[in-house]
Amino acid sequence: MKTYLVIGGSSGIGASTIERLIRNGDRVIATYHKNEITSQHPNLSTLSYDVMGYDPLNLEGIDKLDGMVYCPGSISLKPYNRFTEEELIQDIRLNVLGAHKVIKEVSSFFKKSPEASIVLFSSVAAGLGFPYHLQVGISKGAVEGMTKSLAAELSPNIRVNAIAPSLTNTPLAENLVNTDEKREANGKRHPMGRIGESQDISAMVSFLLSDQSSWITGQIFNVDGGISSLKK
Ligand SMILES: NC(=O)c1ccc[n+]([C@@H]2O[C@H](COP(=O)([O-])OP(=O)(O)OC[C@H]3O[C@@H](n4cnc5c(N)ncnc54)[C@H](OP(=O)(O)O)[C@@H]3O)[C@@H](O)[C@H]2O)c1
Repeated sequence: MKTYLVIGGSSGIGASTIERLIRNGDRVIATYHKNEITSQHPNLSTLSYDVMGYDPLNLEGIDKLDGMVYCPGSISLKPYNRFTEEELIQDIRLNVLGAHKVIKEVSSFFKKSPEASIVLFSSVAAGLGFPYHLQVGISKGAVEGMTKSLAAELSPNIRVNAIAPSLTNTPLAENLVNTDEKREANGKRHPMGRIGESQDISAMVSFLLSDQSSWITGQIFNVDGGISSLKK
C-alpha cells in the first residue's frame, strides 16, 4: 500500500484526488485550511495546515511517503497595472514558496520509498498568454521552472512533474463557472467543447503519483480540453 500526502484536500482537484487514491487502495494524509475534510475512510487521515503560516507540518506517526501533490493555488485576474507588489508576493508565496517549503519539510519521508513522486500545479496561462493573467503567468511560470530544476536535482529517486489545467469547475474558479451561461461560454472556448471537471485533472494526478508513470519526470502536462495546442 502506498502512502500519499495531499496538500489542500478539502476542495476541488485535491478532494477528487483523495477519492481516487482511496479507491485505488492507497493510504492518504490530507491537509485542509479553511474548510474541514468531511470524507471519512480508515485509509484517510486529515490535518489542518496553512502553507502561508509558520507552523511546521505535523506528520507524527508517519514513517514514509510515496508521493505528494500540492494543490493550493490562486486565479488572480487583474490588468498588469492594477495589482500591488504585495498582492503578487502573496500569489508567489501560495503557489511557489509554499510548495518549496512543503517539499523541504517532507523530503526525509521520501527516502524510504523506492519510487517517490511529487505533483505540482501550473496553469494553461503559464504557457499561453491571456489578458489580465500576469499574476498567474508569473507565479505558475515559476512553478514550471521549479518542476524542472527539482526533477533534475532529485532524480532518480524522486520524480517531479506538474499539471497545467485550463478552466476547471472548482470553488477556486467560482466566479468564472457559477452559472450555466458562464460554463457554456467558457466551454465553447475549448476544442473539447466544455470546461474541465476535478475528475479530469485528478486522473492525471493519480497517474503521475503511481508507478505507472515511473519513467516520467520534469514534465508539464497540459490537461486543458485542447485549448493550448488546437485551433478550431
Ligand atoms: N480550477 C481551475 O480552473 C484551475 C486552473 C488552472 C490551474 N489550477 C490550479 O490547480 C490547483 C488546484 O486548484 P483547485 O481549483 O482544486 O483549487 P481549490 O478548489 O481552491 O482548492 C485549493 C485547496 O488548497 C487549500 N488551500 C488554499 N489556501 C491554502 C493555504 N494557505 N494553506 C493550506 N491549504 C490551502 C484549500 O483549502 P481550504 O478549502 O480548506 O481553505 C483547498 O483544499 C491550484 O494550484 C490552481 O492554481 C486550477
